[in-house]
Amino acid sequence: MSAHSDSRPVTVTTLREMKRTGQRIACLTAYDASFAALLDEEGVDVLLVGDSLGMVIQGHATTIPVTMEQMLYHVQCVARGHKRALLMADLPFMSYASPEQALTNAGRFLQEGGAQMVKLEGGAQQLETVGRLAANGIPVCAHLGLTPQSVLKLGGYRVQGREESAAETMLRDAVAFEDAGADMILLECVPARLAAEITAQVRIPVIGIGAGKDCDGQVLVLHDVLGVTAGRMPKFAKDFLAGQGDVRAAVRAYVQAVKDGRFPDQTHTFN
Ligand code: KIV
Repeated sequence: MSAHSDSRPVTVTTLREMKRTGQRIACLTAYDASFAALLDEEGVDVLLVGDSLGMVIQGHATTIPVTMEQMLYHVQCVARGHKRALLMADLPFMSYASPEQALTNAGRFLQEGGAQMVKLEGGAQQLETVGRLAANGIPVCAHLGLTPQSVLKLGGYRVQGREESAAETMLRDAVAFEDAGADMILLECVPARLAAEITAQVRIPVIGIGAGKDCDGQVLVLHDVLGVTAGRMPKFAKDFLAGQGDVRAAVRAYVQAVKDGRFPDQTHTFN
């Protein structure tokens, strides 16, 4: 049975309204039709077909090897399972190196995949691309903070925005993305105070992962939520299956904890 009383499809307008009225947005990654249907039924608002599939599905050490064709295949699978949740697709590494390439590939996600929003990583260097996608009617989420596709350049998976100048740049980039036409911001591994300030400064929804409790919503990788992640669990993640009877109950517990503001707590937060 659906955990969500309102079965109308989630749109960019719904998400903005949720921000405006203080209803928290629950987002999870999904990679196949069966999980997409279950997550949708349990009230997840946004399904992200993340390039994290390179790690949790394909077994790579990073997201860098993931290709556009592989992403498209999983977007199509998820599109067959969801009904209410908005479907966001991650543009993989080197699929948006120019605005033209981004337009072609984002267009494929919408036309061939059934996606309703695309996500791309990076700061000011992506402003022109975001503007181009928005001008062509493509909803965009800009991913700031720790951007895993740049892990080689960043020198590892580290909290971003701790220094004052980096924090100022991130805030400036978020505002510039909103002005360029982005519909959502995703902040990964950012000190909670900075994430709260960015969330307050923009009118578009801000979804956090390792970005504290004051974002407009939260996202986690499904495998972390179900405790099947290989190796060490990231600090910001939580196994919601522990103590629950089954997968469905675990997803419901995650959605409730996000909606009630019980997740993330201090133990899952960077200061
Ligand atoms: O690829 C992904 O799953 C993501 C999340 C970690 C936000 O980008």
